[in-house]
Amino acid sequence: MSTTITITGAGGQIGYALLFRIAAGDLLGPDEKVRLRLLEIPQGLKSAEGAALELQDGAFGLLEDVEVTDSAAVAFDRCDLALLVGARPRGPGMERGDLLAANAGIFGPQGAAIAENASPGVRVTVVGNPANTNALIAAASADGVPAERFTALTRLDENRARAQLALALEAPVAAVRRVPIWGNHSATQFPDVSHATVDGRPAAAALAERVGDVTAWLETTFIPRVAKRGAEIIDVRGSSSVASAANATIDHVRDWVRGTDDWTSAGVVSHGEYGVPEGLICSFPVRSVDGEWRIVEDLEPDDWARERIAASVAELVDEREAVRSLGLL
Ligand code: NAD
Ligand code: LMR
Repeated sequence: MSTTITITGAGGQIGYALLFRIAAGDLLGPDEKVRLRLLEIPQGLKSAEGAALELQDGAFGLLEDVEVTDSAAVAFDRCDLALLVGARPRGPGMERGDLLAANAGIFGPQGAAIAENASPGVRVTVVGNPANTNALIAAASADGVPAERFTALTRLDENRARAQLALALEAPVAAVRRVPIWGNHSATQFPDVSHATVDGRPAAAALAERVGDVTAWLETTFIPRVAKRGAEIIDVRGSSSVASAANATIDHVRDWVRGTDDWTSAGVVSHGEYGVPEGLICSFPVRSVDGEWRIVEDLEPDDWARERIAASVAELVDEREAVRSLGLL
């Protein structure tokens, strides 16, 4: 048995950072063989073919097969895991939503090709921006595939939030848990520290000791730092995040397939949880149980948190309207 994994945009930057880690077993563990399907547009084929040659040269024991193609039907044929990375990245001064017109058109046809060709239990992770709304478009075009199988990557935001909180607490990042992201993978997202733990114990008192007025610190330092980290990376390195995005993609898919022992974050379809309109792909605190994401329910965000969640959800609603007006939904 082996798992067939399709990576779109495999000739791009994140694709290059993902492929070798998947082949090395970081995604599914040291015992699971993988077959890779690399989808590119014609201009990107050479780059993906070069990566395929290097995959051969890695002599990875888990790698059964690599196929490079510009046909979505071939790429998604019997695929178990689809990583939809292929899309234009933003440049300096842009918001991720500015990519809607350029990228949204990619995801309808890919959703349809997944429905026609993939394995019945396919799991789809959208990385290409704006990730939540692209996932919504793909899900809407995938007749017969439950919307729960379409997710958007917000794990990078969570990893950033945990890392910034760990710095503030002067704690090891591995000890810091339960820092979920709510809403959109955009500057409106709400990284929520109200349930954060350090070594399993509530972090609130230690945080107040370090930063003083926690609300002021969240508003002026922590939330902007996390929510605008993508732009900071673009400013500093000249192009958008790559290895950290690939790393978060691996975290997301691994946890989806293998389960979690605590909360994490993922953009998943809303059934109305926390008042989020049904059908939106929104980031929530989630657990992965029996191969499915389950939204953590019964939390009670205070008014301040509710306002922030609502602002990000309003942006998702606006994005959905924008793609409707482009005729893509
Ligand atoms: P890149 O430009 O290096 O690579 C994108 C690749 O996609 C290119 O090789 C291009 O040829 C290919 N492509 C374009 N249209 C395609 C299509 N229809 N089918 C298949 N392939 C196609 O960009 P990158 O740095 O790899 O970033 C990819 C996307 O991921 C961007 O939209 C970026 O904004 C997004 N991103 C998301 C997150 C996140 O956390 N959700 C993090 C980082 C980057
Ligand atoms: C990120 O969060 O780093 C990516 O979504 C890229 C971007 O445009 O910010």
